[in-house]
Amino acid sequence: MGVPFWMAGGYGSADKLREALEQGAAGIQVGTAFAFSEESGMRADLKKTLIEQARRGEGVVFTDPLASPTGFPFKVALLEGTSSQLPIYQERKRVCDLGYLREPFAAPDGNIGYRCAAEPVANYVAKGGKVEDTVGRKCLCNALMANIGHAQVRKDDVVESPLVTVGDDLNSIAQFLAPDRDSYSAVDVVHSILGETARRAAAEEMRARTEMVLLATA
Ligand SMILES: Cc1cc2nc3c(=O)[nH]c(=O)nc-3n(C[C@H](O)[C@H](O)[C@H](O)COP(=O)(O)O)c2cc1C
Ligand code: SF4
Repeated sequence: MGVPFWMAGGYGSADKLREALEQGAAGIQVGTAFAFSEESGMRADLKKTLIEQARRGEGVVFTDPLASPTGFPFKVALLEGTSSQLPIYQERKRVCDLGYLREPFAAPDGNIGYRCAAEPVANYVAKGGKVEDTVGRKCLCNALMANIGHAQVRKDDVVESPLVTVGDDLNSIAQFLAPDRDSYSAVDVVHSILGETARRAAAEEMRARTEMVLLATA
């Protein structure tokens, strides 16, 4: 159709970049690899634990069909201490105090109201939401703030728990680790993904230039 497209979801490697380009993609979009790099704002202990799991090939990612209040499937790392664990999710008292994921609805008085399927159930239902739509919904606003070290602290020192979102190929981030290191930088990711492609592009250009010079001098 002549429309440029980019491949995403498990494309963060030199092999997958090559595959995408061979299929005619303009490029790739990479999330997980950078989310665990040194430059990422993710909480250091979460990064460390999941990188260790990835190195052992033990990271487990669950595509949760309910967690996101917006209804989109949401991929999460199954990790202790995060609300990927049922007891932690169940223990949290629902509160909606960030509001980034609220959805507008037409209120009976003609105004626009806002509701979120992860807010307190009674509030959601009072705003015309269906109780069944609240089941399993997680407060991603608070969880994602906790992921980057800005968890809100509630009464009695209750701290909001993180919920780490990652791609299915979490374990493949181990490819960016040097044997003697337990972290990697965003530059390592770019070099690793682009290395071969960039080298081949440079070789192509060199070949083309050489041909031009040979033609010009023939
Ligand atoms: C930390 C993180 C946050 C993300 N946030 C969003 C988001 O807000 N909306 C969205 O559509 N996708 C989001 N994604 C999914 C990325 O767009 C997805 O990871 C991307 O398509 C690349 O796939 P990869 O993570 O396998 O490299 C997020 C991914 C990560 C790792
Ligand atoms: S995710 Fe949480 S804070 Fe965000 S809008 Fe929903 S209930 Fe409110």
